[in-house]
Amino acid sequence: MYDITEKKIIQILKKSENQNKLQKIVDLIHKNFEKYNWIGIYFLRNNNLVLGPWRGDKPTEHKIIPLGKGICGVAAKSGKTEIISNVKDDDRYLSCFIETKSEIVVPIKKNNIVIGEIDIDSNEKNVFNKKDLIFLEKIADMLSKHIH
Ligand code: SME
Repeated sequence: MYDITEKKIIQILKKSENQNKLQKIVDLIHKNFEKYNWIGIYFLRNNNLVLGPWRGDKPTEHKIIPLGKGICGVAAKSGKTEIISNVKDDDRYLSCFIETKSEIVVPIKKNNIVIGEIDIDSNEKNVFNKKDLIFLEKIADMLSKHIH
């Protein structure tokens, strides 16, 4: 699924109108990975993460997250991917959905500067592994060229 999804994302980035691209990609990733229950892209704007396209069962109340707050804010500040196997064990976690058990946050960088991030929640513990990390960091890199 990682390879198929990556190829489809490349096609979407080539073909789609600008405003639809990111929503299409979020929808595709959500559809192809059952274990990814909620996915959203945040953009960094004036030291706040602002939620852009997302897909999942429910909207999150965390549509704006200050830099440094929550797992999202920490990853955006450090520029490093965060994988949380069990959100209950992490004090930094900002709770969105009662069902969420694990989370991955992957910064999107342009010229080594964080401009946004991909946030994914799963309803299972220990879901995100090295393959997810490599896949999502690659996607983040591809997206960075399409975010202005
Ligand atoms: N859990 C995140 C907040 C965003 S929601 O998961 C959509 C965090 O700790 O930063």
